[in-house]
Amino acid sequence: MLLSALFAHGLLAQEARIYNNFKPGELWLDNNGVHINAHGGGILFENGIYYWFGEHKVAGRQGNKALVGVHCYSSADLYNWKDEGIALSVDTTNENSEITRGCVIERPKVVFNEKTQKYVMWFHLELKGQGYSAARCGVAVSDNVTGPYKYLRSYRPNPKKWPVNATEKDTTIPESGDTALLKLSGNERAAAGYYLRRDYPVGQMSRDMTVFVDDDGKAYLIYASEENYTMHIAELSSDYTSFTGRWYRLFPGGHREAPAIFKRSGRYYLITSGCTGWAPNAARYAVATSLFGPWEDKGNPCVGKDSEITFNSQSTFVLPVQNKKDAFVFMADRWKPENPIDGRYIWLPVKFIDNGIRIQWFDEWNLDFFNK
Ligand code: DGJ
Repeated sequence: MLLSALFAHGLLAQEARIYNNFKPGELWLDNNGVHINAHGGGILFENGIYYWFGEHKVAGRQGNKALVGVHCYSSADLYNWKDEGIALSVDTTNENSEITRGCVIERPKVVFNEKTQKYVMWFHLELKGQGYSAARCGVAVSDNVTGPYKYLRSYRPNPKKWPVNATEKDTTIPESGDTALLKLSGNERAAAGYYLRRDYPVGQMSRDMTVFVDDDGKAYLIYASEENYTMHIAELSSDYTSFTGRWYRLFPGGHREAPAIFKRSGRYYLITSGCTGWAPNAARYAVATSLFGPWEDKGNPCVGKDSEITFNSQSTFVLPVQNKKDAFVFMADRWKPENPIDGRYIWLPVKFIDNGIRIQWFDEWNLDFFNK
């Protein structure tokens, strides 16, 4: 009984197995027979190998805090994953470090910078003991893909910079004063520029995030800002570790998080979730031919049973599969807030249909899906 309970919580290793398909929502064992521990993750491809980075969660209610760091796994076939260890460790020696043990590190994403030849990891950072109020993004770098990553610093992006699509109204305090806007709903306040102006001096809030490198080598941080009411897309510096000051506000007041972006045939697709904590809700996606808009809202990409709760999961990344045309895997997390280490991975193929995308449930599937 005790053994089976521990087992279910992913604490005990089982015999490792060879996979030849995806089974969304099931335990997914690494080469050591341990359930993969890389939540809110993203994937980098290099020299024939995929590297999966994600939040290392711990058993029990406290397990959503960063008690260990960012975990890395590698795979040549996307089914079988080798444990590459902790790529970015929390700081266990310095209580004053921004990434001290017990802070929050979420949704890590790694990209490679051709110019500096460094791997750059971005993540959502919340400071220890401050709940989710700090709303910062952190950056770390490494000479090796699997790490160790060295923490550089954190940001509230773009202080004293207005977005490229700011209107005069956005940047002007209304005659009645900004405090008059407090009687509005959060969505309305965001749409009226309240949070944008409030945070202009100190930098914009940055929570759920992802990083995207475009074909021209420019990289962008895409993050839930303005108390999660507005998504921002901010251009990164040429070394990918800071901001250029050019940024765009997407759907002010839209109240979205969990961004996952990909590009296909000159069109950008951005999938997001609603904001309901660890509980699932309906995904939506938007399409654009330029990252700085205009974006067209296309509604829920999921179809079929449980599509209104994204098959009981929340988006984290869309993975372009190498050497296959138009092959993209939607990656999402089925959170287990009461025992986060047992969180499950929902990977499903993206289908292009009717000038848009569709994501449907499969109990199991493999990459042959994309040969059809
Ligand atoms: C939803 C976010 O998408 C997660 O990354 C995490 O921040 C939870 N909220 C916390 O409630």
